[in-house]
Amino acid sequence: MIGRDILGIEDLSRDEIELILETAERMQEIGTREVKKVPTLRGRTLINLFFEPSTRTQTSFEIAGKRLAADVVNFSVGSSSVTKRETLLDTAKTLDAMDPDCVIVRHKVAGVPHRLAAVLGAPVINAGDGAHEHPSQALLDLLTVKEQKGRIEGLTVTIIGDIAHSRVARSNIYGFSKLGAEVRVAGPPTMLPVGIESLGVKRYTNLREAIEGADVVMALRIQMERLEGACFPSVREYAATFGLDRAKLRFAKEDAIVMHPGPVNRGVELSHELADHRPSVILDQVRNGVALRMALLYLVAGRGRKAGEAESRAARAAGEA
Ligand code: CP
Repeated sequence: MIGRDILGIEDLSRDEIELILETAERMQEIGTREVKKVPTLRGRTLINLFFEPSTRTQTSFEIAGKRLAADVVNFSVGSSSVTKRETLLDTAKTLDAMDPDCVIVRHKVAGVPHRLAAVLGAPVINAGDGAHEHPSQALLDLLTVKEQKGRIEGLTVTIIGDIAHSRVARSNIYGFSKLGAEVRVAGPPTMLPVGIESLGVKRYTNLREAIEGADVVMALRIQMERLEGACFPSVREYAATFGLDRAKLRFAKEDAIVMHPGPVNRGVELSHELADHRPSVILDQVRNGVALRMALLYLVAGRGRKAGEAESRAARAAGEA
């Protein structure tokens, strides 16, 4: 996977997903050491290019790069020439001219990482693009389920919430389906895209039916800043119907786990009690995010820029000299 862009789970094969998860399992041990650092990416440069806010993804890509001894640059949009109207492409090409070995991109517009991947010499990792995909989130979710359940194949995974606008839902639907799980999606009809069944999932508007017999119940963040009044009458009604608490969870399997990508709207998608206690594995997801992103960086940026790119740059430089 050296030099490969990681733009979505849709593009990854089952073998590639399994390779990433196995690599992440090996990376987990590094995080338990007293000195949490190995020289694997020493001399490599990674750029975090986040045009949208992030706590978990940006920080864990930074920690992951540093644990592998890479030099990590966090590009700050607010203090950059973006504020002087420099375009997205000019910004990205300018950073690419400084020869990074990987660029990690988050943007509110779907497809931006793909556009950048087409013009940048460095491999691009999608850290979330609009409502399209969030591949590293789905991979860390798969890693967490594998850790908790010992397998993915044959499990029943219920994803609850705004399926229509969620990049996490889309990436997880692809990921869990490719690894052989049954995926169910649940929410108000306004949040379930027409034709979602074509992705191989089962669609539910009744939460009890969706949860019945599930091994994994994943609640998604409700984007209250954008959605109240658009997709459901009120937050209170959403919480009463689709918010997860212990009473509703009893319809799942006795040993079911509860997941959430964060940030959690407490008392909306999850009760306070469930957000903080088992069977919730939210902080395991966060912890696994570092190992998973170490694996991605190791696999993608282990030997520098996209295949052929370093050679062609060297040849151009030699020709010019
Ligand atoms: N899950 C997730 O993407 O969280 P952040 O927005 O904090 O990165």
